[in-house]
Amino acid sequence: MSNSEATTSSPVARLEIDGKVYELPIRRGTEGERAIDISQLRALTGCITLDDGYANTGSCQSAITFIDGEKGILRYRGIPIEELAEHSTFVECAYLIIYGNLPTQRQLSRFSELLSDHQMVHEDMKYHFEGFPATAHPMAILSSMINASSCFYPGLMAGGYNPERFEIQAARLISQVRTIAAFSYRKSRGLPIIYPKRAYKYTQNFLHMMFSMPNEDYPLDPEVVRALDLVLLLHADHEQNCSTATVRTVASSRANLFASAAAGVCALWGPLHGGANQAVIEMLQAIHDEGDDGTKFIEAAKSKKRRLMGFGHRVYKNYDPRARIIKKACDDLLAKLNTTDPLLDIAKRLEEAAIHDDYFIERKLYPNVDFYSGIIMRAVGIPLEMFTVIFAIGRMPGWIANYKEIMENSESRIYRPRQLYIGQTLRHYVPVEERG
Ligand code: CMC
Repeated sequence: MSNSEATTSSPVARLEIDGKVYELPIRRGTEGERAIDISQLRALTGCITLDDGYANTGSCQSAITFIDGEKGILRYRGIPIEELAEHSTFVECAYLIIYGNLPTQRQLSRFSELLSDHQMVHEDMKYHFEGFPATAHPMAILSSMINASSCFYPGLMAGGYNPERFEIQAARLISQVRTIAAFSYRKSRGLPIIYPKRAYKYTQNFLHMMFSMPNEDYPLDPEVVRALDLVLLLHADHEQNCSTATVRTVASSRANLFASAAAGVCALWGPLHGGANQAVIEMLQAIHDEGDDGTKFIEAAKSKKRRLMGFGHRVYKNYDPRARIIKKACDDLLAKLNTTDPLLDIAKRLEEAAIHDDYFIERKLYPNVDFYSGIIMRAVGIPLEMFTVIFAIGRMPGWIANYKEIMENSESRIYRPRQLYIGQTLRHYVPVEERG
């Protein structure tokens, strides 16, 4: 295939199959990225493309998040993650991601009001929590309860997508995912449910619902609140990752927002995706308990017996910018809380060993967001089984923005990939008594 841009204003790629040449348009994104448009490929050639894991496949055009994995760049709606991490909040970023621009003071106040107005889950939802065993993983409860929420808002998609109704649904989902998450934790510990307080901001309220007691409010330390808010902000969107692609797939069938987000939670749960933050801490704890300084584990990872969780990324072939921010935030928080964490020391030793080791250098494996996020969450007091839930709360604005993008694109089609069939060719049914 050759790329010819010199002679025409619309560049094309030429593809030769069986001696016949086909021209495929090349589309260019606003950051100069190029994509060969194969939307007519099968109609023209009879062929499909095969791309296991979609590593080379652009499934959509999106205006939400830009990543340059080679340079380690991440921007929400054009704004660098470093600037947002320093100056913004999770709620402001949620608005930015969903609606495309930083909110004015008025827009931000309205958005915050909406979050407060819709923070209570329907009282009858409490009975659903009763049905889960105490051993249930909070991610299972979260996805079930997000889906169950849609039962309390019938007619979610009646009359199709409606931007005004969507604004309320989006606020309801962002606000209630936090309430559901905290309730599921309380349930798992056999603790009484604590309701959100209108006076508290988003992250304060989450900590309040997690840790207050009926007769004693949890003391909110601004450093702790800020650290957790930063974790949420850094997870708020990340273009077409496994869970977001799942949300888009479900949304493409015109399923409602809650059903689509519940599917996103399920996709996020796995240890290769959002579940990695829990897996990292389990790995660090095991290294600590075995008295290994990390050397044995690195060797096991190189020989594929173990996987260095929190390392590597499909898109980043450089340091994940979120990991850089979180690593510094870990150091800052532990210093402010005047505490230490032996797992942070192990993590740093592992990183130091890995980034100087040919195995990791050749494969461009660097720490990703999950490598250090667990350390912050431990310092904040979040229990291990809730780590991936925190990721889900953080990622909700991204899922919602991607859902909105699908719904507002009049040309969006149902996601329906093809396959290359490699099974049995035609054969005929044999009655059971003749099968031998
Ligand atoms: N430890 C050791 N080797 C690794 C690791 C790792 N963490 N990650 C990749 N490799 C090796 C892999 O074995 C392969 O080696 P070889 O070329 O010899 O076969 C090579 O690097 C390429 O890996 P891959 O599995 O083809 O890469 P992928 O793009 O399919 O997978 C990944 C990306 C993130 C799933 C993978 O790097 C991984 O499993 N990392 C650990 C889990 C993790 O931290 N996940 C969180 C990702 S960031 C948060 C988010 O989900 O958004």
